[in-house]
Amino acid sequence: MKQVFGVMGDPIAHSLSPIMHNAAFEALGMDCTFHAFRVKQEDLGDALKGAKAMGFGGLNITVPLKETAIGLIETDPLAARIGAVNTIDFRDGIKGYNTDGIGAQKTLEDAGVDIQDRNVLILGAGGAARAIAFTFTEAGAKVNIANRTPERAMTLAAEVGNVNGFGLDVLDRCLKDTDILINTTTVGMDPCIGDTIVTADQMHSDLTVFDVVYNPLKTRLLQEAEAAGAKPVTGIMMLVYQGAEAFRIWTGVEPPVDVMKKAVMEAL
Ligand code: ATR
Repeated sequence: MKQVFGVMGDPIAHSLSPIMHNAAFEALGMDCTFHAFRVKQEDLGDALKGAKAMGFGGLNITVPLKETAIGLIETDPLAARIGAVNTIDFRDGIKGYNTDGIGAQKTLEDAGVDIQDRNVLILGAGGAARAIAFTFTEAGAKVNIANRTPERAMTLAAEVGNVNGFGLDVLDRCLKDTDILINTTTVGMDPCIGDTIVTADQMHSDLTVFDVVYNPLKTRLLQEAEAAGAKPVTGIMMLVYQGAEAFRIWTGVEPPVDVMKKAVMEAL
């Protein structure tokens, strides 16, 4: 009998995770199947217990359930600090992890960019920014956070520790010393195609510019990076790598990243 895996969220119809993970299972000849489940926030506890009782192999958790899951299950220390779970393992109880930050780190590694001791500037202070700020700081990066609402950046910075948080008004000064710029805001995402917080004239050619937005694949921010001679990195690989790290947690098997990437690119 096939083992069932899945992703829970609301809305969930457009999730690329089923296509990505089913391609991985098929490529490795694993007798497993991955489905999307629409679950309301108030039903998450029941859904997780049901999945455990039915022998699910593992779950991804997405918007708006990532923070809700924290209060319901045992969480590993990094996910607890981030305050959000995106991966659940059922092998020993019900345990939550967060692979979003490591997904971003692997995306940069894949592009030949090491984050250790590098100056990283995160735009935004929402869920993606939290995951990246905590994970990157633990991995040895020097992190700054800039957000439209400066208070949110400062609050997150204080939580992470050894991190500066400020508003968008000091971007110019900060960008001069930045090695890696990461946009975690929704600016530039369909239907706001063409919007950007940072333009080419503010960038330098040694800069890496990573946009977590992957819809469109080449955002205005990445076009500006190209124009400045900086290194553009698309957010689609973060989706692939957060999934690959979840796959590794669930199965203990090395994830077929190339297969997962191909499946996602074909589906886009
Ligand atoms: P997520 O959890 O997906 O990261 P979120 O919590 O909704 O998303 O956060 C969205 C981020 O995009 C926030 O940092 C938000 O800034 P505010 O905290 O000031 O709201 C940022 N953002 C959204 N629209 C923006 C815009 N037009 N200009 C600048 N920042 C914007």
